[in-house]
Amino acid sequence: MRKKIVAGNWKMHKNAEQTEDLLNELIAQIPTETIAQVIVAPTFVNLASAVDHLEFTAIIVAAQNVHQAESGAFTGEISADMLTGIGVNTVILGHSERRAIFNETDGLIASKVNTALKHDMTVIFCFGEELKDRQSGNHFNIVENQLKDGLFHIENTAWEKVVLAYEPVWAIGTGETASPEQAQDMHEFIRETVRKAFGSDIAEDVTILYGGSVKPDNAKEIFSKPDVDGGLIGGAALNAKDFVAIITAI
Ligand code: 13P
Repeated sequence: MRKKIVAGNWKMHKNAEQTEDLLNELIAQIPTETIAQVIVAPTFVNLASAVDHLEFTAIIVAAQNVHQAESGAFTGEISADMLTGIGVNTVILGHSERRAIFNETDGLIASKVNTALKHDMTVIFCFGEELKDRQSGNHFNIVENQLKDGLFHIENTAWEKVVLAYEPVWAIGTGETASPEQAQDMHEFIRETVRKAFGSDIAEDVTILYGGSVKPDNAKEIFSKPDVDGGLIGGAALNAKDFVAIITAI
């Protein structure tokens, strides 16, 4: 079901104490009447404590990655079973930093999607073009291919466990945001691409988040667009004041 979602991707920020402090601030400051589903994604080592901390709240805890294998000799990796075992049932996959820095391909991301869905996890599937793609006018093609190669192999019934997050790489951490019109144009295209492959019901139901330098002062305008259902927030999710302002903007 299409929802309003504001998710904070904390990336490699916040130690245990800082995680607890920020969660306490969020618990105290997020208005109880908010219509947004709020998600936070701390680092792996702080997931278990975050789940404990948020037990009696509506805030959901997500992981930032998962390994595709069930278990095995994969030093340094984390399995889906380990995540669900501590109460983490949502995972961000395909983030552009994983793609660019850790060489994650569409094929690898597709197998991570399969593993997460097999474990009944919700997948926040990230994708988006680089600056050169937008400058050459190839951005719609790139996005379509990322969706087709990383996600579109799933069954119709799996869509209820999928949230899309369009994150143009040129807008991540740069302070440069897609204009509300650019975001809407792409989100409309994404919904249309889902419609062509999976039909209108799934396309209308899927939640599509925008990510890339969302801040308190631009959130309201971006979120006002009809195909933008919320945001995946990086830098501004690291302090309660800004993150709560973004949640309130929805
Ligand atoms: P910024 O909000 O810092 O641009 O990061 C966006 C992002 O990568 C969220 O996953």
